[in-house]
Amino acid sequence: MSKDFDSLSLKVFKVFDKDWAILVSGKDNPNPMTISWGGVGTLYGKPVVTVYVRPTRYSFKLMMEHNEFTVNFLPRKLRRVYDICGSLSGGECNKWIESNINKVKSSIIKTPFIKEAKLALECKTIVRVPFERESFLANEIYDFYEKEDYHTAFTGEVVEFHKP
Ligand SMILES: Cc1cc2nc3c(=O)[nH]c(=O)nc-3n(C[C@H](O)[C@H](O)[C@H](O)COP(=O)(O)O)c2cc1C
Repeated sequence: MSKDFDSLSLKVFKVFDKDWAILVSGKDNPNPMTISWGGVGTLYGKPVVTVYVRPTRYSFKLMMEHNEFTVNFLPRKLRRVYDICGSLSGGECNKWIESNINKVKSSIIKTPFIKEAKLALECKTIVRVPFERESFLANEIYDFYEKEDYHTAFTGEVVEFHKP
């Protein structure tokens, strides 16, 4: 357990897009959801991670209700967890049981992280921005939104990380 963020090395264009991650949101009944869009960086002088969640996800409600979340990067051998958490909805089942992963109490926030993660980030949401039709400056972006379910960007300050 450490706050030495400089010691983390992430391939920023690979870590979400190719490797994927699990976003955990909620406190009493937290829910794991697969994400492949995201970014890490600096905002207001803080280390941050931004995730993008469509309003149609069960996770969206949890992200709006609780201003904290964890981002969990799993080892390659647990790819099946991404398939389950990226296809089932937490509104209809318990994805912790379905995917056979375990919760660990976070150090600073109330949302847990995933025990099996090779890296887990504890985040406090500091900025929340819903995309609107007018937000998009490239025409191809509209292809992602046949149902006009525009993502909301949630930027969280990374307040702790866990690396076994
Ligand atoms: C590889 C992969 C990446 C995904 N990335 C995102 C994402 O970045 N944002 C999002 O809103 N949904 C994303 N999804 C879709 C959700 O994971 C999926 O709809 C999930 O079942 C929603 O779970 P929930 O209803 O429990 O929140 C992704 C799915 C997969 C398989």
